Amino acid sequence: MALKAFRTYVSSDKLETFTKSAFDDMAALIEKETKPFDIDAHIRLLVFNLVCRMAFGQCYKMDQPEFIWLKFIVDETMHEVFGGLIPSDVIPTLKHLPIPSSLLAKRLKKNLIRFHEVQLAEHKKTFNSDDVRDVMDHLLLLKKELTNESDDNVKESLSDTRILYIMLDIFFAGTSTTSDTLKWMILYVAAHPKVQEQLHKELDDL
Ligand code: HEM
Repeated sequence: MALKAFRTYVSSDKLETFTKSAFDDMAALIEKETKPFDIDAHIRLLVFNLVCRMAFGQCYKMDQPEFIWLKFIVDETMHEVFGGLIPSDVIPTLKHLPIPSSLLAKRLKKNLIRFHEVQLAEHKKTFNSDDVRDVMDHLLLLKKELTNESDDNVKESLSDTRILYIMLDIFFAGTSTTSDTLKWMILYVAAHPKVQEQLHKELDDL
């Protein structure tokens, strides 16, 4: 169902339109830089804006507290949770013990779930099946279609909890992967001017 929601969204022209305008916004910010600068924040703003807009319709500004908070949560999760060992991943019963890494993972998850709960409540309030705005709306539409299903297992498959976890999956799977790949590409072409030239030519020829 998540895949169906994704496909339906991607097959509309929304993503392409948003991508173009998000790139223009980033280019405008970069043009304002007068000294050498770290491109990390610009790339992450670009990717967050695309992923968050596609997932739940949010768009951010560089200095917006919510964007700074999300960036911090993703960094902390990447470094402390995915980048380290969580003992309960190996021995599940350890999750009941107050081990610092497990407690941190739980706290981060709770904060992000709470954040997505707010988005979900807002989407439910403003949902209009004739104007499906993002992946969260697509999931709500699928959920609506399921209400006539007699099988409780099928209904449960799109519970609010499932929707929230799909959102977390998209958020984590889509942000660091894409921004790190873009940053790597920039570093690579900076180190290999010939490749940069070739890439530029290919883009110009499009
Ligand atoms: C350069 C960018 C990306 C790379 C290298 C990447 C790579 C991957 C890989 C290796 C997997 C695991 C596949 C498997 O388990 O067989 C995965 C899963 C996934 N990716 Fe991506 N991905 C990228 C961008 C994105 C974006 C932009 C989105 C969505 C906005 C996304 C959404 C997902 C989702 C939802 C999953 C499944 C996660 C799960 O099972 O929990 N990915 N990706």
